[in-house]
Amino acid sequence: MQRDVIIACDFSSKEQVLSFLDRFTETKPFVKIGMELFYAEGPEIVREIKARGHRIFLDLKLHDIPNTVKKAMSVLRNLDVDMCNVHAAGTIEMMRAAREGLTREDGTRPLLIAVTQLTSTSEERMQRELLIGASINDTIVKYALNTKEAGLDGVVCSPLEAAMVKEACGTDFMTVTPGVRFADGEVGDQVRIATPARAREIGSDYIVVGRSITQAADPVAAYERCLEEFLG
Ligand code: C5P
Repeated sequence: MQRDVIIACDFSSKEQVLSFLDRFTETKPFVKIGMELFYAEGPEIVREIKARGHRIFLDLKLHDIPNTVKKAMSVLRNLDVDMCNVHAAGTIEMMRAAREGLTREDGTRPLLIAVTQLTSTSEERMQRELLIGASINDTIVKYALNTKEAGLDGVVCSPLEAAMVKEACGTDFMTVTPGVRFADGEVGDQVRIATPARAREIGSDYIVVGRSITQAADPVAAYERCLEEFLG
């Protein structure tokens, strides 16, 4: 399976993201576009970054009734992104509908993954507010199995959960993991973190790295360090 570093481009305007990407003169990193940038700039920003030669993970985390998700995905498929996602909590039926909507007439489609439990959700809150009685790890494994059953390619999870997901769903089932920090870097608001090298050992296929690269004094050097540590 292909492994790579995805840069989370959490910027609020086209100017900011394009001037950030302008720094990468020799490489064209795989980038993640999230809700903030997409809602600020619309689909045009996806076309523009794609036209510059980057692969794109469009992180919009769809979660609605199956028919609505299917129709939304059939719009997104025209953007020619490389990866997009839904919430596994939307059920197997919703995930199947997402996959159908995303599939082009020739049978090809972007990679489609599901969020299990957001890394910001603690076990205590999940049990008290959402009335989910199971442990958070059992929930993550069950959601990952549902994702596999729906025919999706993998899940977004913490690097620390990647081994558990692979054990339940098989090594070909993809894990895309945010929550990555350099050993000597700022942790910020992330809790369940790992270094790029540790993420590789545990079994991440793609690591999603935001501030450790975007806020670095030299983002290109930070990206290259990530690649080196992650790809080994
Ligand atoms: O700056 P940092 O490396 O923490 O950025 C991580 C990125 O991954 C952000 O875009 C964040 O929204 C996203 N993410 C996450 N945890 C999840 C899902 C997505 O941190 N469970």
